[in-house]
Amino acid sequence: MKILALGAAGFIGSHLTHRLLKEGHIVTAVDLQSEKVAEDLDHANLTFLQQDIRSAGWDLDGLVRDADLVIDLIAYANPGLYLRIPLEVFRLNFLENLKIAEACVRHGKRLIQFSTCEVYGRTAASLQNAAVADPEDPIHATFSEDTSEYILGPVAKHRWIYSCAKQLLERVLHAYGLEHGFNYTIVRPFNFIGPKIDFLPQKEDDIPRVFSFFMDALLNGTPMKLVNGGVNRRCYTYIDDAIECTYRIVENRGGVCDRQIVNIGSPHNEVSIRQMAETMREIYAAKFRDPATPLPEIISVPGEQFYGEGYDDSDRRIPDIAKASTLLGWEPVWGICETLETTMRYYVSERRKTAASNG
Ligand code: UGA
Repeated sequence: MKILALGAAGFIGSHLTHRLLKEGHIVTAVDLQSEKVAEDLDHANLTFLQQDIRSAGWDLDGLVRDADLVIDLIAYANPGLYLRIPLEVFRLNFLENLKIAEACVRHGKRLIQFSTCEVYGRTAASLQNAAVADPEDPIHATFSEDTSEYILGPVAKHRWIYSCAKQLLERVLHAYGLEHGFNYTIVRPFNFIGPKIDFLPQKEDDIPRVFSFFMDALLNGTPMKLVNGGVNRRCYTYIDDAIECTYRIVENRGGVCDRQIVNIGSPHNEVSIRQMAETMREIYAAKFRDPATPLPEIISVPGEQFYGEGYDDSDRRIPDIAKASTLLGWEPVWGICETLETTMRYYVSERRKTAASNG
């Protein structure tokens, strides 16, 4: 297939681009920079366009017209940005992505739109005075694509602008499906991690996701910071599992993913952020520790101090993956410890390479 991959050189995009090329597809990849797809840049089937989709002077319509399938991964998806530049988060994640979707509608092309598990928001069990018998029952945190209700915080908690922007985009795709027969598949990733996730923070205002903060703390012996005590929980999904499922969506045998929303995640890999910090520290001590660097302490910091005013958080989110299993025969295979260790090994090795090249 001829595939137009937008945001192809981000974390997920770079792994997906690699897989698409391996499977023999012809890929036009668009992104701001090419660093994460460096190993594939010379591939005969890859055309890389360095482009900010917000700037004038690129031919979105022409690229969509020439493709058999469009995959859109373009997003600001780091919570720190929802607090710092909420308007830009809305503009990129909704307005700019809408232009891509509408080009697909105009040219009758199938779109795989990456969305987010953040659309589900918070659990009912987390609400004040929640009338649930057992708040710890995973049933309250298990989110299904077509039946779960969404609970978001108030407008003043502007973290939720991202969730709303993504949700509105999903609703517009659904409406185009109803009114124009538009063919799309929406993917809701649940905390993918693996080599090339985010970046290690270099400057005071760098705000990657939690794995990168913890990895940086381990490499430098600085404190691992638990926002609000690290009580919230996530299900971490290894990137190879995620790409396997995504690739089955690309293939779409028998049209099973037409106009479907699909959760991709590892329900058995749930950890609290505190458990994640402790596990990463244990793995680091056992496998990677440079004896010259002390093991970091784990401390708690208030959310508004760490991120700024307007911070709020998803308390817990477990993917219901029955749909991916039924439609695609997919189940994740990576456990939480090997997921963390393999991802950590990548960063330790990158750090050693940098140290070696700096003499
Ligand atoms: C983010 C995005 O908002 C989602 O769109 C995306 O789907 C998701 O990542 C993902 O990777 O799939 P989130 O899980 O909240 O969601 O991202 P993180 O920044 O990694 O935060 C996870 C938890 O760690 C939060 O509770 C946060 O407060 C906490 N945290 C973060 C710390 O305790 N310490 C830190 O140094 C950083």
